Amino acid sequence: MTRRAVSHGRFIALEGIDGSGKSTQCRLLAQALRERGHTVTETREPGGTPFGEQMREVLLGTDRGALSDAAEVYLFAAARAQLVAQVVRPALERGEWVVCDRFLDSSLAYQGVGRGVGIDAVDQANALAVAGCLPDVTIIVDMPLAVAMVRRGLGDRIEAEGGSFHERVAEGYRELATRYPDRIRVVSGSDTPGDVHARVIAELATLM
Ligand code: TYD
Repeated sequence: MTRRAVSHGRFIALEGIDGSGKSTQCRLLAQALRERGHTVTETREPGGTPFGEQMREVLLGTDRGALSDAAEVYLFAAARAQLVAQVVRPALERGEWVVCDRFLDSSLAYQGVGRGVGIDAVDQANALAVAGCLPDVTIIVDMPLAVAMVRRGLGDRIEAEGGSFHERVAEGYRELATRYPDRIRVVSGSDTPGDVHARVIAELATLM
């Protein structure tokens, strides 16, 4: 998918396997940007809009039975379409920074590689949802799977998948980083949240 610049705002997505610590990094990044005087919209996927939060319940609910892979792809894409239209694009047009906890690359890694749908197929299924509104930079917080699995809960439908699923997701993120070196940066998620935050800031130095 090709990125089209939207006004002068900046769009950052944080990605990683479950338990990688990316949500903490989103908060720390948003706080650091505000301290530098930027207006920041913080959001997350799936969710970030009333419709998206409803989709989140459907997608992550443990009592929803088995969704087909294609249904899962399209539901994540539907939530994303609403988030782009209602939150991300308007904020970028106002010239704000948008910090998003997961975005398209989650679908490429989890559904594309984890579920085996294929990166290109998932990318195409998201074209209308994203409509060129791609992050300026996506930061993957890289964490050894064994460490992340100890950290994360087993709460939702996707988190409860077995280890081989999460191994494929981790492999998916590595593949995405190789495929899209211009827009994806990988930082080590080991050490303290403050150490990881410093790495995130270093990766964004030119944008800031
Ligand atoms: P997340 O909100 O990071 O979980 P938590 O807040 O419990 O740490 O993500 C929810 C789950 O949804 C996570 O397992 C990844 C998955 N997911 C996909 O499979 N595809 C997607 O496109 C997105 C956005 C998330």
